[in-house]
Amino acid sequence: MSATAPEIESVLHEERSFAPSPAFAASANFNGERLAALRAHAAADHEGFWAAQARTQLCWQQPFGQTLDDSHAPLYRWFGGGRLNASVNCLDRHLPTRAQDTAIIFERDDGEVQRWTYAALHEEVCRLGNALRLLGIGKGDRVVLYLPMGVQAVIAMQACARIGAVHSAVFGGFSAESLKDRIEDAGASVVITADAAPRGGKRVELKATVDRALSAGCGSVEHVLVFQRLDGCAMQAGRDLWWQTLVPQQATHCEPEWVESEHPLFLLYTSGSTGKPKGVQHSTAGYLLGATVTMQWVFDLQPGDVFWCTADIGWITGHSYVAYGPLANAATQVIFEGVPTWPDGERFWRMIAAHKVSIFYTAPTAIRSLMRLGDELPARHDLSSLRLLGSVGEPINPAAWLWYQRVIGGGRCPVVDTWWQTETGAIMIAPVPGAMPTKPGSCTLPLPGICAEIVDEDGHPLSKPGHGGLLVVGKPWPSMLSTIWGDDARYCSTYFGRFGKTIYVAGDGAQRDEDGYFWILGRIDDVLNVSGHRLGTAEVESALVAHPRVTEAAVVGRSHPVKGEAILAFVVVNGAREAAIAAGLAQELCQWVATQLGAIARPDEVRIVEQLPKTRSGKIMRRLLRSIGRGEAVTQDVSTLENPAIIEQLRGEPAFGA
Ligand code: WT7
Repeated sequence: MSATAPEIESVLHEERSFAPSPAFAASANFNGERLAALRAHAAADHEGFWAAQARTQLCWQQPFGQTLDDSHAPLYRWFGGGRLNASVNCLDRHLPTRAQDTAIIFERDDGEVQRWTYAALHEEVCRLGNALRLLGIGKGDRVVLYLPMGVQAVIAMQACARIGAVHSAVFGGFSAESLKDRIEDAGASVVITADAAPRGGKRVELKATVDRALSAGCGSVEHVLVFQRLDGCAMQAGRDLWWQTLVPQQATHCEPEWVESEHPLFLLYTSGSTGKPKGVQHSTAGYLLGATVTMQWVFDLQPGDVFWCTADIGWITGHSYVAYGPLANAATQVIFEGVPTWPDGERFWRMIAAHKVSIFYTAPTAIRSLMRLGDELPARHDLSSLRLLGSVGEPINPAAWLWYQRVIGGGRCPVVDTWWQTETGAIMIAPVPGAMPTKPGSCTLPLPGICAEIVDEDGHPLSKPGHGGLLVVGKPWPSMLSTIWGDDARYCSTYFGRFGKTIYVAGDGAQRDEDGYFWILGRIDDVLNVSGHRLGTAEVESALVAHPRVTEAAVVGRSHPVKGEAILAFVVVNGAREAAIAAGLAQELCQWVATQLGAIARPDEVRIVEQLPKTRSGKIMRRLLRSIGRGEAVTQDVSTLENPAIIEQLRGEPAFGA
């Protein structure tokens, strides 16, 4: 096992355990007995279990014949022969009984609130579906969404699903360059965006970024559909169209495109350990099934709940737990345009009270940043509507977990720490909260039908508690990625290259305790987790070396009290090092990376060094850099370094005598 950050390891000494309150357990979807029955079914008959779920939870235009086709493993195919439509499952099926129920409570950055019923949402989705068809979009065509967090993002995803188009959402924080790469890899013919968006009182330019991406390439794009959120933007005649002009003219009936189970519902690009982001491809049926059942199992969703997942639509959490899962379950959910700390650090708590949120799902980075502001802020608001709290995106340290549970949840709400990934489509390891105790810092046990295990470097199961190993999933599950867009070989080698074609390797380290509970230790590859966002060190390095002054770069994570991990870059520059430092090149490089990749990739620090530490064979000693990044003592053998004095420079210490 590679070393893990000390504060992550410290969670492993956590021994507190919290049983659900009798009140919560009494009315929960699952008690111990019901959960045991579900687990027993899944354990006895993996395929039969998932087939039964798929039959009862989804509505099909044509039932499936074969549950799992593993003849081309690891290219697994679920629910063969079946046909369905995701938007019919999320909208139409609720209309007979729930048309006037609130689907979305949208709170804008400036505090204005809009309510959308299921009927209204369905109408707008149909109109947009028709508008896209008018633009020539049909089954299998790719549509890139570069939209702010808001109702239109959900409508756009649902409209694509309705006509069988494949959406590919790109987070609004990504740069023109990153957007261009994603548009080109997907071969998208339409981009849906907004003029600009307010966020935390600031203005985020979106259309201008799309224009820059398109002027740099993106030959496949024929049209840009622009939702006017603010005061408008420049439009290119013949290419750009206003949503507000085109969409209202369309009919409110839009015949759904019935698609096969495996028809791609969406692509979502995510970082891996190599430079190029991967287009994770999700299926229609299996993905939707995962998003649907986990709402009931993990979030204990019930009629009357108000669900709020704070994730942006540009990430997988915003897909599964904003755009699809809540709607498939006919839930009422809050969608928020802004940020937790604007206009002040009470925004989340004020919103929970105002909208009577009962299930709240956010990221450890947000919890930690709000925890620092003190207990008085949440104490000013009535948070008694809350009955369940969730966490996702990175390991949650016990201190943050306990604060969340005590101060936000008033000690009565179970906290569900949910482990999953872009690739897994839905939550994989998490509590079923009415049925089992939780422990601060542990995501507890795999869900029914999810065969997560921990193995050693040779693939042997590690059954003893307290032994760290690789987190794997031993059997396929419906919401797993179908492939990497256009690159089956990369899919096979990335996830199934290590222990054979039935063992999915997640890329995380983990260990179990005496109760079998899982404790995630963090990534074991060159992937960073900054504020719950995944970033490949290779991506940041290639952005750095694209700068004319940089000849070499190495990037590592260093622990950060709020962001979890922050980016530390070591670079070698051409020309005089001292002069470059004096001229402020380090600052310039931080900005350069933000411009190249997006603000989320901005390094916390760039250290300009004379050389990178290398092994005899010329490989960068990453472990050494990681130790330095974490402020740990250097224990590696540095005898092969040409210039051992370099260690001081790498540590960022002033040279002796300076
Ligand atoms: C990576 C996946 C899944 C939605 C958000 C991130 C880390 C995710 C947890 C958790 C510890 C977690 C893992 C994983 N991660 N959730 N509850 N505890 N680590 O999706 O961008 O695909 O990143 O996030 O390292 O591999 P993603």
